[in-house]
Amino acid sequence: MKRYFIANWKLYLSVAKSEQLARQLVRFVATNKLSRDVEIVIAPSMLALGPVLAILKKSRSKIKVAAQDVGIADEGAYTGEVSAQELKKMGVQYVIVGHSERRQYFGEEGGVLAKKNACARAAGLGVIYCVGETKDERNAARAQEVVKNQLREAKGEYALIAYEPRWAIGTGLAIEPSEAEQMHTYIDREQRDIPICYGGSVSEKNIGAFLTLNHTSGVLVGSASTTYKSCVEMIVRMSKFSGV
Ligand code: PGA
Repeated sequence: MKRYFIANWKLYLSVAKSEQLARQLVRFVATNKLSRDVEIVIAPSMLALGPVLAILKKSRSKIKVAAQDVGIADEGAYTGEVSAQELKKMGVQYVIVGHSERRQYFGEEGGVLAKKNACARAAGLGVIYCVGETKDERNAARAQEVVKNQLREAKGEYALIAYEPRWAIGTGLAIEPSEAEQMHTYIDREQRDIPICYGGSVSEKNIGAFLTLNHTSGVLVGSASTTYKSCVEMIVRMSKFSGV
């Protein structure tokens, strides 16, 4: 079974630091025997995409790249937007859509997310679509309903779904693995045969517990993926788990 290690560097790293970490990971992947079933995807900030892609291309690395966001159109009067077609031409393979930080700070939902998904799909980019409930929604037993709406509102054909409960992101408080498994099972019923990853405070300490869950094809990692040591520790765990 294919497994995904998705490193979302958010806006944690400068361009120079992103290049440095990309170089270190390229060297690590080239010199260590890792399971072929593990796909490593790194998502640098927009400004670091070009420099990081150049490093990967030069060394013919099998590490793949995701953009953290994508525009709602490919050309025209859209100040600030980023074209999916241009991302694809650069060598980007995936885009993250619907991340809770985009939902929370930029008000992205429904219509906008559907447009982003359509642009990404038309450009041949794989959409990593993020869903997840707030703590209040979970406490009110509304988690499944919220996730169901998020899956439907964006009208996407997803390459991968990341379940990231909002209260677990960046807090150090990951969800109980059994609760993640329940939600993944639910998502799998709603969207058959799409790989599902867990995200939210994954680290080298807890990654093992998420790899063994049913309906779980990997992890989406934020802050713990921004330092070389923890990043490679998690990759090694996943590789061992998948069988070299
Ligand atoms: P975190 O972020 O690992 O820092 O909690 C995960 C994410 O938001 O993708």
